[in-house]
Amino acid sequence: MALSFFSKHKKAVLNRCRDDYATKMRLKYAPYYHAMESQQGTSIRLDGRDMIMLSSNDYLGLSFHPKVIEAGRAALLQWGTSPTGARTSNGSRAYHVELESRLATFLGREACHVHAAGYLSCMSSIASFAQKGDVIFADKNLHSCLWDGIRLSMATVERFSHNSPDDLREVAAAANPDAPKHLVVEGVYSMEGHICRLPELTAIAEDNGCFTVLDDAHGFGVLGRQGRGTVDHFGLNEKVDVICGSLSKSLASTGGFVAASSEVIEYLRTNSKQTIFSAALSPSQTAVATAALEIMQTEPEHHERLWKNTKKYRAILKGLGLNTWESETPAVPIVLGSKERVYPFWRALLEKGIFTVMSIAPAVPAGKDLIRTAVSALHSDEQLDRIAEAMAYAVKKTG
Ligand SMILES: Cc1ncc(COP(=O)(O)O)c(C=O)c1O
Repeated sequence: MALSFFSKHKKAVLNRCRDDYATKMRLKYAPYYHAMESQQGTSIRLDGRDMIMLSSNDYLGLSFHPKVIEAGRAALLQWGTSPTGARTSNGSRAYHVELESRLATFLGREACHVHAAGYLSCMSSIASFAQKGDVIFADKNLHSCLWDGIRLSMATVERFSHNSPDDLREVAAAANPDAPKHLVVEGVYSMEGHICRLPELTAIAEDNGCFTVLDDAHGFGVLGRQGRGTVDHFGLNEKVDVICGSLSKSLASTGGFVAASSEVIEYLRTNSKQTIFSAALSPSQTAVATAALEIMQTEPEHHERLWKNTKKYRAILKGLGLNTWESETPAVPIVLGSKERVYPFWRALLEKGIFTVMSIAPAVPAGKDLIRTAVSALHSDEQLDRIAEAMAYAVKKTG
């Protein structure tokens, strides 16, 4: 302590960086940022050991699909590496327009806009439309990108209990009746694996004249016909104004999208800072997403396999008495309740060759500290058996 006092930087921010407790803990326990030496689907090599990836979001397992890889390679050769700027500065490209048109059609929308990150798309889906004086009703468990969009908008935010129509109804009743209103939800909550209670929530939103935004990063590719997502799963296309999401999960690329009516997308193109001032999606990442979207519609076996694996995996965890927070989807948390329990469990899985990620409060609500896992269509039966053995070992070792 004394040494740190005497060696203080003159710049306060440098002291902040050096003394940050969370960073010190992260470096001490090293749960994140592991650099894999190689990857082939769900098989990875880490520190010279062959392991199974159980925490990526490659739900449909398309990131190593030959057609997807070929599409990325061909686009790189045809268009080069990057559009090197925002579309407002040096124009759109045919590949952007093609992906946007296909995504819009797939989602039953008039128009779509793609960005270089899902984070930008989702943040922009709120920040572009909400403004000071508006009221935003937000599920308490929203993803960080949606909170950032809410904060940027300067609107008043009213949080309601996670996935609770009763609480939304109460919160809405107390809000300024004259303010323009928004409802922000996720289709599938990425930590919990819960499906949004969309029928009840959109009914309340309708009664209150809300502009409804749904982030379907984890529902797209997973729910609905051919993976059209949560809105399609419930048949509620008319009730949701904006569907945003990520290209980095089922679509095996990176980037994000916002799909809505033409009017809404044109407004976004005029007003969204994230759209106007950020470089466009790269040619290869766009082509990869376009190819994956095509495969979603022509090769149903990936979607079928995803759900077969999900059922098998959930049965494994249930058989071991683990708490999966009633996950209904391939994003399956193992809730252990405290960081003291999460860390050894995570280590035990790693020891047995299973790579997962731990998430502790405040990233999750207090008492819900968990290991986040996600099943892929690419997990083989043999891998699921190895995962089952490793889970049993972790339960025994930490129990
Ligand atoms: C619910 C949700 N929305 C948006 C994003 C951001 O997507 P991306 O990682 O593609 O930027 C994520 C990513 O984790 C997410 O889980």
